[in-house]
Amino acid sequence: MKIRVENPNSSKKTMMLCGFILEDSDKILGLGNVDFKFIPLVKQSINDMGGVFGKISVIPATGRATQRILLAGIGKKEKFTNDTIRYVSGKIAQKARELKLKEFSIIVPPSSLIEPVLSVSQIVEGCKMSLYKFEKYKSKKENNIPDLTILVSKSEKISKAIKIAEIVSDGAIYAKNIANLPPNECIPATLANFARIISKKNNMKCTIISKNELKKKGFGGITAVGQGSKNEPKLIILEYSHNSRNKKPVVLVGKAVTFDTGGISLKPGEKMDEMKFDKCGGCTVIGIMKAVSELKLPIDLVGIIPSVENMPGGESYRPGDIIKLYSGKTAEILNTDAEGRLILADALSYGEKQYSPRAIIDFATLTGACIIALGTNMAGMVSNNNELTQKIKESSKRTTEEIWELPLNDDYMDMVKSDVADMKNVGIGRAAGTITAAAFLRNALENTPWAHIDIAGVAWTQIATKDKPYNPKGATGFGVRLILDYLQNT
Ligand code: BES
Ligand code: MN
Ligand code: ZN
Repeated sequence: MKIRVENPNSSKKTMMLCGFILEDSDKILGLGNVDFKFIPLVKQSINDMGGVFGKISVIPATGRATQRILLAGIGKKEKFTNDTIRYVSGKIAQKARELKLKEFSIIVPPSSLIEPVLSVSQIVEGCKMSLYKFEKYKSKKENNIPDLTILVSKSEKISKAIKIAEIVSDGAIYAKNIANLPPNECIPATLANFARIISKKNNMKCTIISKNELKKKGFGGITAVGQGSKNEPKLIILEYSHNSRNKKPVVLVGKAVTFDTGGISLKPGEKMDEMKFDKCGGCTVIGIMKAVSELKLPIDLVGIIPSVENMPGGESYRPGDIIKLYSGKTAEILNTDAEGRLILADALSYGEKQYSPRAIIDFATLTGACIIALGTNMAGMVSNNNELTQKIKESSKRTTEEIWELPLNDDYMDMVKSDVADMKNVGIGRAAGTITAAAFLRNALENTPWAHIDIAGVAWTQIATKDKPYNPKGATGFGVRLILDYLQNT
C-alpha cells in the first residue's frame, strides 16, 4: 500500500474522497469551507446515515475532483477514543477494497477533535492492518490493496508519523503472517529461520541454540517439553543495539509452541487446531524486533523466543517427571499441557542472567483461565513492578491493545509449591489459573522489573472476539503496537 500526503486544498483527482462525520452533525470533518450542505445529495446522505459509529455510506459524485464521496460515521463526540479513527479508517479501507479501487483519499479531521499527527498514525494503522488477509495457501489470491492519500497540511512531523506508523503496522502484519502459518509448515526451526532472515536484513545479532546445546547448558524446561517431537526445540535470540543512552537493555520473551497437543496430558480434540496459535507470543516478539530495527530506536533490546512442539510420544516428558530448570530450581510435572511456563521459565532466567536488563516483558498464550477471567478482548498482566505496569498501561491506552492487571502475592506463590520439588507446574485445581502460572514464572527471576502478559484470549480471533476491521480472522499480532509504543516512550 503506497501512502501519500496532499494538502487539503489540493486539486489532485481521487477515486474516492472519504471524510469522517460526528453523530448528528451535518458536516464532513476537516473539509473546511467547501460546503457540501448545498449539494443536495450529499446533504441528504449525511442526514440519512447520521454519523453513527462505523456506518459507511458511498455516494457518486459528478464533480471534477472525485468520482465518489464516502461518508464515515464516527459516533458521538463524548465517545471518541484513541481507537475511533483507527477503527473507522479500517472500515473505509475495506470499502475501498470491496469497490476494487486503486486509490482513495481520507480527509484528516480538525485538530480541535484530535491532533493531526495522532490521527494520521491511526489512519495508517487502521488502513494497513485492515487490508491484511492471510492468503498464502489460497490458489487464487484476491486481495487487491488500494493506495491511500491522506489530506492534511504537509509537514516534517506528519511525514515522520506516517513513516513510523507504516513500520509499526508492518511489524504487526509480519507477526500475524508467521503466526497464521499452519503447524506442518512452521516448526521451531522455521521460526529460527525467520529470525535469522530478519537479523541479516536489519543488522541484528541472531543466535540459535539447538537441542544438544540446550541440554548441555541446563535449559531443562525447553529440553523436557521439546523431547516428544521429532521437530527439535530451538532457543532463538535476537539482539538489537543502536545509540542507546541507557546501557541496560530491555528483554522481551515470547512463548512459541508451534503446536500444543497437550503432550501426554493430551488435549481434547475440539478446537485443537487453534493450538497452532500457541506460538503467537514468540511471533509478537519477532514482529517487535523487526520494527524496532527498522525504526532505529536509540535503545538496546533483546528478543528471546523459546520454541518447541508439544507432542505425545515414546520420548515425551510425563506427568510425575521432575526436571531442573535453567534457574537451577526443580519442577515437578503434574500436567504436560502446562508446558508454556516451563519453556518461559528457562528463557526468563537466561534473559536475566545474561543481560541484567532494566526490564523483562514476556508474551504468552499461557492459560485458558485467562479467557475465562477476562474474555477475548483483553489480555491479562501480572508484574512485580509498579513503574513498569504504569508505563505499559499508558501504552495500552494509546494503542487500544487492552490489558488488565491481576495480583500476585505470596499466597499465590505458595500455590505452586511442590511436595517433592521446588515447584509444581500446576496450581491448586483451577483456582486462579492465570496467576498461578505467573507465580511459576516469578520463580525464574530474582528482582528484575518484569511484566508477564497472557495473550491466550487476544492472540487470535475467537468466537467472542469483538469484530474490528483491523483484526481480520486469524492471528492479531497483539502486543506489537503496545510494546512499540512503550519502547518509544521510555
Ligand atoms: N496454550 C495453552 C493455553 C491456551 C488454551 C491458550 C486455550 C489459548 C486457548 C497452555 O499451554 C495450556 O494448555 N494451559 C493449560 C494449563 C493447565 C494444564 C494448568 C490450561 O490453560 O488449561
Ligand atoms: Mn498446553
Ligand atoms: Zn500451550
